[in-house]
Amino acid sequence: MKRSKRKKFAVTAVFIGSLSVIVAFLLVSFLNVPRKSDDSETGDSTADNYYAHDTEGTDSQNDGEHSENVTSKGYSIKKIDGVTYIDNIMIVNKEYPLPESYDPKDLNPDAAGAFEEMKNAAASEGVKLWIQSGYRSYDRQKELYEQSINSPDANVTDSLIARPGYSEHQTGLSMDINSVTKLMGEWKEGIWLRDNCYKYGFIIRYPEDKEKFTGYSYEPWHIRFVGRDLAKKLHDSGECLEEYLGINSEYSE
Ligand code: DAL
Ligand code: ZN
Repeated sequence: MKRSKRKKFAVTAVFIGSLSVIVAFLLVSFLNVPRKSDDSETGDSTADNYYAHDTEGTDSQNDGEHSENVTSKGYSIKKIDGVTYIDNIMIVNKEYPLPESYDPKDLNPDAAGAFEEMKNAAASEGVKLWIQSGYRSYDRQKELYEQSINSPDANVTDSLIARPGYSEHQTGLSMDINSVTKLMGEWKEGIWLRDNCYKYGFIIRYPEDKEKFTGYSYEPWHIRFVGRDLAKKLHDSGECLEEYLGINSEYSE
């Protein structure tokens, strides 16, 4: 090969080599970009953002206070605009309050829809369920709490009623069903609710014998919407939400 031909060959080889590297790089980058359809295929992000934080949306907006940490079981704790999401589930207990300004005004529509479905299923089995108390504003919770601490029940108030800002009812994802009495757990309505609510995405939020985890005594009437996957996991394992996530529920003062 003549010298000029060899040079031309070498230049062409370098050019093709570089081009291949660029194409390979672009291909790898493209394959690594997370796409919405990937999420729906794996079911990871699901459409369950009504009770869970939509990470994609808020992260990219970058318009609020945002901090991140993990629980003793390794689940991520995110605080966004004063609201805590653990493993992307909105969490409200004695450790994780809501801001006074958090006000959905009503029950979450998906939670309300799931209740309707559950109510109809129960009715078809001769069990009548109704919502005694659903969404409660910060101010309404304040009234209830103050009534209790000014009553003969003052000494047990904190194991029965959340302080304002600390009630799950303020999320619009929780409901008191039928009768607010421990007897509810022995009546057919309470038994049906305990055995079946997970099928509709609800958990009995303050189960019997879990006060050391939840911070509240047994409430067979109080259900919380968490979505079907998590509700089934908790139902099958017998763990309450705090045990499952590895978090506490204690007031700091
Ligand atoms: N009874 C529950 C703990 C509440 O007040 O939210
Ligand atoms: Zn309740």
